[in-house]
Formats: sequence, C-alpha cells, structure tokens
Amino acid sequence: MATTADELREQVRRRYAESARAVTEGSGCGSGGCCADGESDAAKFGEALYDAEQRGELPEAAALASLGCGNPIAVAELGAGETVLDLGSGGGIDVILSAKCVGETGLAYGLDMTDEMLALARSNAAQAGIRNAIFLKGVIEEIPLPADSIDVVISNCVINLSTNKPAVLTEIARVLKPGGRIGISDVVAEDRLTPAERSERGSYVGCIAGALSKGEYEAGLDAAGFERVSVEFTHEVADGMHGAIVKAVKTSRPEQKGLPVVQPAARAGCC
Ligand SMILES: C[S@@+](CC[C@H](N)C(=O)[O-])C[C@H]1O[C@@H](n2cnc3c(N)ncnc32)[C@H](O)[C@@H]1O
Repeated sequence: MATTADELREQVRRRYAESARAVTEGSGCGSGGCCADGESDAAKFGEALYDAEQRGELPEAAALASLGCGNPIAVAELGAGETVLDLGSGGGIDVILSAKCVGETGLAYGLDMTDEMLALARSNAAQAGIRNAIFLKGVIEEIPLPADSIDVVISNCVINLSTNKPAVLTEIARVLKPGGRIGISDVVAEDRLTPAERSERGSYVGCIAGALSKGEYEAGLDAAGFERVSVEFTHEVADGMHGAIVKAVKTSRPEQKGLPVVQPAARAGCC
C-alpha cells in the first residue's frame, strides 16, 4: 500500500525524535549517523562539514546532533543585526552559529516539528550562552511567522524531507523581506536521475529518496518568486546525488521578474 504524505512525515518525525534522544542520552547516532544511512557517510553528513573554529564555538551535544549535509552559515554571509530563520533546526547547530554572527542586535529563529529536537536545541543554545535565539514548533510547509519578517532563510538537509516542497518554497518567499536571501544546504540529485532511481540510492528519512533534482530546485525557486537562483554541488553523497548549496534572492520587484537584475554591492558578512 502507498505511503501517504502524513505517514511519511510521521516516519521523519519519529526518525529524528530517536536521533535527538540518542544524543541526549549519549547513546550514539549523532554526527550524521542518523541522517546518513551508514557509518561510511560520516564525512558527508554532520559536524565534519564545519570548520574547527565553528565546532569550537559549540557545546558538544550541538556538534554531535549535527545531521546536515553542508554548512549554510559558510554561504549565507550573515551580517550584524539581521534576522535569520533556520528551517528544520534540529539540535540547533546552525541557529547557535547564526545567533553569534548576527550579534545582539540580530535574531535567529529555529523552526522544527520534533519536540525532542526542540528540547535539545534549547538546551544547547542555553549552554552556549545564546540569548538572541528563539525555537519555534511547527512545520516548514506552514511557517509560523509573519510575511516580510526575515532577512535570511537557511536550512541544512531538511527540504528534501518535506512531502510538499512547492509549499516550502512559497512559504520561504512569503516570510522573506523583499530582497531577502536564502543560503540552503540540501541533498540534490543530478537531472538524469528519475525519482525511482533516487529512491534506489537511499531512504526517504535518510535524506536521499526525497531529494529534488537540480532542475526541479531551480524551477521551484523561480516559480516561488526568486531570482539569481544557483544550485551548486559540493560533494557526492551517493551515485548522482550531491550535497549542494542553494542560493537565491526574493525578487524585490515581482513585476520585473525575469529581467536582468543589477548585482548588489558586496556585503560585509561576518561569517
Ligand atoms: C536531517 S535533520 C537536520 C537538522 C539540522 N538542520 C542539522 O543540520 O543538524 C532534519 C530536521 O528537520 C526536521 N524536519 C523534517 N521535516 C520537517 C518539516 N516538514 N517541518 C519541520 N521540521 C522538519 C526534523 O525534525 C529534524 O530535526
């Protein structure tokens, strides 16, 4: 019998609740071991994707709980005073690093649907002495924040887990301020792979089977109202499947979408 979207989301929630409990109880399954499908994937997922300086700023449990497939902080060029939203914030690693980047005049939100992850993230942020972070319970397909309220949306290995990706991309566009940007790490398939071939390479809850292809990601962002879209592969995680950096800017002139846009001046990023 086919799995419904609700059943699939519940499988995802259970998988990551178990992962959070394992880190909290110190029984392993951290550092990418739960997002990835095997021990050999440890270098492709998790804390290994952060540099030593970033890891040094984190409580051990936050680093251990890292289940991402990239390092969105390295590409988001966060600046002091900005408001950042991390979709699927897990154990809080990217929220903690973002909160440090944007400083006391800025704010970092984490959004996650899994209670156990939210508890772990709040504990990790408190341990790191972070006061400008807020963790929200909810789903990334219906972001519980007002329109035009966020400067930067980041996410690390979560959008592939969504059962309604067009809704996620539309919601990201809604909450971003005009001209706001995304810096997302995700698993992305080469365009040659059919959905069935992606499923042969790994499980849905393991961040492989639900991955969009590069062309699907670009088209989805374009349809949701983004411009200057780029999807760049960084490292292969399975045959034809890659950790990727996804960048785009919410169009500030929807009526001009599709026309050439002048590049903004270089930002003085803090990270
Ligand atoms: C692979 S983990 C990544 C966690 C974190 N971004 C990191 O890099 O360590 C996926 C996280 O996304 C959350 N998640 C998955 N699907 C979600 C959805 N539809 N809405 C909200 N959270 C979701 C899970 O609860 C889990 O914490």
